[in-house]
Amino acid sequence: MNILVIGATGAQGGSTARRLVGLGHAVSGFTRTGMGLPEGVKPAIGDLADASAVRAAFDGVTHASVLLPMVYEAPVVESYVRNIVAAATEAGVRRLVFNTGNRVPSGPTPVSAFETRRAAESVFAHSGVPTVVLRPPVYLDNLCAPWVAGPLVHAGVLAYPLPADVPVSWLSHGDLATATVAALTSPDLLSTTRLLALDLGGPDAVTGAELSAAFAAVLGRPVRYAAQDLGEFEAGLAHAFGPSTAEAIAGAYRWVAEKDRTLYGQNSAGLEDTLGVRLTRLHDWIASRPWKEIAR
Ligand SMILES: NC(=O)c1ccc[n+]([C@@H]2O[C@H](COP(=O)([O-])OP(=O)(O)OC[C@H]3O[C@@H](n4cnc5c(N)ncnc54)[C@H](OP(=O)(O)O)[C@@H]3O)[C@@H](O)[C@H]2O)c1
Repeated sequence: MNILVIGATGAQGGSTARRLVGLGHAVSGFTRTGMGLPEGVKPAIGDLADASAVRAAFDGVTHASVLLPMVYEAPVVESYVRNIVAAATEAGVRRLVFNTGNRVPSGPTPVSAFETRRAAESVFAHSGVPTVVLRPPVYLDNLCAPWVAGPLVHAGVLAYPLPADVPVSWLSHGDLATATVAALTSPDLLSTTRLLALDLGGPDAVTGAELSAAFAAVLGRPVRYAAQDLGEFEAGLAHAFGPSTAEAIAGAYRWVAEKDRTLYGQNSAGLEDTLGVRLTRLHDWIASRPWKEIAR
């Protein structure tokens, strides 16, 4: 197997690329800069907007893990996906795993973070390239961001932009890597179909109150959950990534809060059996992280 990981210097792609290298696979990583590629990953430098660079990256590739960057303008995303599908088809890729980066609601929404990925899923589905779609909910690793981990460790306040009673089956990047490796390599997964779409999620779906109780148990101090104001969250994101990216990301959280409170909490029953993996229990993930160092 020659595996191409698109976005291999990012937090999610990097986790998957490192796991694949650790398992002894030949892995190349497609990014614009190649800066921060995990050890053992061969650089494949280019922009997803550049069809010839994407084609060159797919030369000799048998399997690919695809994650689209934080871009939500529909024509741009469409061009990325078109380039990937054309290159994967030309290379005769035997299996492609597409991480949507988010769950995708069952019906249409006005939220570009959902709709660009729904459209991408559809292009992969009709491409003829055998594809496994993985739809993660919210990542546990988001809780390591300084704006979450700082108040959590220093003030006992777990602030996140979701209402306290919304259940989330938080997934770690480590478990995303576990699921992606299984989706790429499990021989039986696509034996009767060319397309399989799975809602990913950790084994424990918890509300904000339950999540803070799990942290309190590990940290040995009281932790209270505080639903972060979405306007404030969006303003912070806009500062870092620009207003349109901020609107897309905040729009997804807003949709869940106002329209579909079950989207991130749907139990991933059967997922472990389907993929033949065991995922990390919430308490074990929290206990495995060095929170004082993360919050420093
Ligand atoms: N569900 C959640 O909790 C959650 C959390 C975070 C992100 N996400 C989703 O995950 C996706 C990735 O976001 P992220 O911020 O986490 O990614 P990231 O860590 O910033 O990684 C992005 C990767 O893509 C590469 N890249 C960016 N633009 C590219 C381009 N035009 N051509 C080629 N490579 C490119 C980057 O490398 P170079 O810079 O070198 O090109 C990097 O390797 C987004 O869809 C986002 O919405 C979901």
